[in-house]
Amino acid sequence: MRNHNPGIAKLAKEFKIVKETDVTAVTSFALSAGAEMAVIGPEAPLEVGLVDALEEKGVRCVGPSKAAARLEISKSFTRALMRRHQVPGNIDFAVFDDLASARKFVLDNDRDMVVKPVGLTGGKGVKVMGEHLLGKEDTIRYLEEIFEHHIGGGGVVLEEKLVGEEFTLQAFCDGRTVVPMPLVQDHKRAYEGDVGPNTGGMGAYSQEDHLLPFVTARERDAALDIMRRTVEAMRAEGSEYRGILYGQFMNTRDGPRVIEYNARFGDPEAMNVLSIISSSFTEVCDGIASGSLSPSKVSFMPKATVCKYVVPRGYGTDPAAGKAVHVDEKAIAKLGARAYYAMVSEEGGKVLTTTSRAVGVVGIDDTIEGAEKMCEKALAHVTGDALFVRHDIGRPEVVRKRVEHMQQVRK
Ligand code: AMP
Ligand code: GLY
Repeated sequence: MRNHNPGIAKLAKEFKIVKETDVTAVTSFALSAGAEMAVIGPEAPLEVGLVDALEEKGVRCVGPSKAAARLEISKSFTRALMRRHQVPGNIDFAVFDDLASARKFVLDNDRDMVVKPVGLTGGKGVKVMGEHLLGKEDTIRYLEEIFEHHIGGGGVVLEEKLVGEEFTLQAFCDGRTVVPMPLVQDHKRAYEGDVGPNTGGMGAYSQEDHLLPFVTARERDAALDIMRRTVEAMRAEGSEYRGILYGQFMNTRDGPRVIEYNARFGDPEAMNVLSIISSSFTEVCDGIASGSLSPSKVSFMPKATVCKYVVPRGYGTDPAAGKAVHVDEKAIAKLGARAYYAMVSEEGGKVLTTTSRAVGVVGIDDTIEGAEKMCEKALAHVTGDALFVRHDIGRPEVVRKRVEHMQQVRK
């Protein structure tokens, strides 16, 4: 994708639009701009070794090497690593590289499972039995599709279905030291009430004490311990992990279990936490890149946040791309809220939607309830045709439902 993002353009002294996986083009731009440090956002350039190439040229990086990025890129690598090193929080899984054996596994097992293409699918390839997949027949049909169309490379992981509430724990890692950020809960389903297809995330909230209403401090610490032991396992195997580590957890009756890791910030979760970081982000990045990260130099404001994404109508299935969207940045700033441009492109003086999420709007306040109200006020200043927002995110009744669900799960 080669979009001209007005938010990034405004912050940049100098920029060039190239494909993010074009390692040669990105590296030569970094060198010509005299870059000392690079923060790599998405996973695709990590997979093709951009960090390795930049570091070879002397540009320090916030982002893992190709070998370390396997934590995100290969779900089977991560599960096997955790198993080898007895990292807690792992779940039962089996990997298949042919359709016949995957089909047999589904037919022979009566537990509900989750189907995940092995490689990268932009968060959209995962299907859950009992939700997206109604029974074994449906599941087998999806397996056929994965192998026929080589979705995510053609291999598949079948794993145990977890029951609980999901949360995100992001951390800064310098290879050894792992420093946590506030917990966030994302909303992956496209429509209100958590129905519809899985998306990259429609919005998310965080609580003022940096926990969540359904995650205790002990459970957060257990999740952090899992991430620390994972980073330790990577170091022991010679692939030191430096960058942002994103842990997606299911809080189950047995505590947090790992759904997946990402080798980057969460989207939208980055907007929740970076909107309230109170230490210098540049210093934190410097600590990551130079292996000298200090927990005492990382702090966040004791504030709650609610982020809702403005997306093109139909996002998740059939998005209405190419429509103008207008963001009244001044009015939003006046409220104390934030707006971040996502997958939009500025062309001929207009900001146009693409097929993905357009603008993230964040409200910040002392409570989730207050942050949600601010977010809604700010959303009124994002206008355009064929736009859609999941307004239910962060609403008290929705948060209450999560807490009640967790109480049920704990019984
Ligand atoms: P992923 O792309 O791995 O983040 O998965 C997308 C969504 O599928 C997650 O946000 C969960 O809601 C669901 N999911 C993934 N793995 C599991 C699992 N093992 N058990 C239950 N739900 C899962
Ligand atoms: N919000 C989920 C992700 O960034 O993968």
